[in-house]
Amino acid sequence: MDFKDKVAIVTGAGQGIGLEICRQLVAHGANVILNDLDAVLAEEAVVKMDRKNGKCIPFAGDSGDIAVIKQMVDKAVEEFGKLDIVVANAGITLFGEFLSYPPESFFEVMKVNLGGSFFLAQAAANQMKKQGFGGSILFMSSVTGHQAHENLAAYGMSKAALEMLAKNLVIELSPYKININTVAPGATLTERTLRDKDYFGTWENITPLGRPASVNDIAQAVLFLVSDNSKHITGQSLVIDGGWTSVSPSPYKN
Ligand SMILES: NC(=O)c1ccc[n+]([C@@H]2O[C@H](COP(=O)([O-])OP(=O)(O)OC[C@H]3O[C@@H](n4cnc5c(N)ncnc54)[C@H](O)[C@@H]3O)[C@@H](O)[C@H]2O)c1
Repeated sequence: MDFKDKVAIVTGAGQGIGLEICRQLVAHGANVILNDLDAVLAEEAVVKMDRKNGKCIPFAGDSGDIAVIKQMVDKAVEEFGKLDIVVANAGITLFGEFLSYPPESFFEVMKVNLGGSFFLAQAAANQMKKQGFGGSILFMSSVTGHQAHENLAAYGMSKAALEMLAKNLVIELSPYKININTVAPGATLTERTLRDKDYFGTWENITPLGRPASVNDIAQAVLFLVSDNSKHITGQSLVIDGGWTSVSPSPYKN
């Protein structure tokens, strides 16, 4: 996959899946704005990255904040002259029982997972429309947007909504040659998930292919969906879960 001279924004990318997406985009020649809420993480991620093929600029800020979203798109255009690719990766997982789920948690999940993706897609699509040569937008969903998962009502709902949003935007964005898709990862090994010392063992046991996903598994699919090789794919969601949703064994009952 060749991303030479492509310009991308990836949110929530100081670590985990987003960081791997940035690393691979830059390795394939893209110039990338790497966003994270945590300014230090964003800076460190860029400094440590191999940047001989593409550039990468850290951009600290809340990806759910409309002003930050506008600044990010402006920054991409100011630094690199255009915007070709957006990966709305940032998403927060706030667990809790439905019957006592706090409104603050609900609205925070919706702000980052849904609002951040919706308004980033809007700002990016307006820029791409102005440029006149199309673009690619990708939302980060989850298997919990497909299968019910204990204590994740708000999160799962936000992810399912993103998949419908991608489908819906096919209507308005196709005339501008902008394709828009989602990937839905299953359990993935990241700095965050590995804080649970049982995570690997649990998912190793209940994933048909015998292991949780690596960040590379997810990034490879994302790169394909934002590359020139997938220009005729739009409104789709790709589940990357080692077969887990095909059978859906619970992580809590084994
Ligand atoms: N890791 C998994 O198992 C898994 C599974 C399915 C879906 N996902 C989805 O994939 C995406 C990435 O997951 P991850 O586990 O790599 O992420 P993560 O939880 O490790 O977070 C990655 C980065 O996002 C940043 N971040 C959090 N809120 C932010 C905000 N408002 N603005 C900007 N940055 C913010 C954090 O500081 C962190 O550095 C998320 O949307 C998540 O819901 C992850």
